[in-house]
Amino acid sequence: MNMRKRIITYGTFDILHRGHINLLRRAKALGDYLIVGLSSEDFNLVKQKNAYYPFADRRMIMESIRYVDKVIIEDNWEQKADDVVNYRADILVMGDDWAGKFDYLKNLCEVVYLPRTPSISSTQIKAEMF
Ligand code: CTP
Repeated sequence: MNMRKRIITYGTFDILHRGHINLLRRAKALGDYLIVGLSSEDFNLVKQKNAYYPFADRRMIMESIRYVDKVIIEDNWEQKADDVVNYRADILVMGDDWAGKFDYLKNLCEVVYLPRTPSISSTQIKAEMF
């Protein structure tokens, strides 16, 4: 029987920072294979997030992180249940800014909210730099 655990997480991951890396490292440590659902540009509009880097650049960056095994596109709020099933994810991981929001998936997989790294975000970096 295959006991390896597959983890899935989602986000925009614009202007990569240590909070993102902490999240990805801790997510990967919960299992063996980490899938990142990376928000598309259209979905960022829905979320009212204004990413500096286009999707292709964010994907290239995410794919080069040692903790990340696979990057998929996140295009809508509803796809998570299908992704969990199709990618056979055992655990969905999110930062605790999302606490409780994905509990409805607990019938399909374990749902874990990790504490955010304090005092850093892409929005804050952009505000300070641009
Ligand atoms: N994250 C984290 N600690 C931070 C910032 C983000 O753990 N300081 C986590 C989020 O909780 C999420 C993932 O990283 O699970 C991707 O978050 P994202 O929204 O892309 O990053 P932010 O820096 O929060 O972006 P923004 O400022 O645009 O909201």
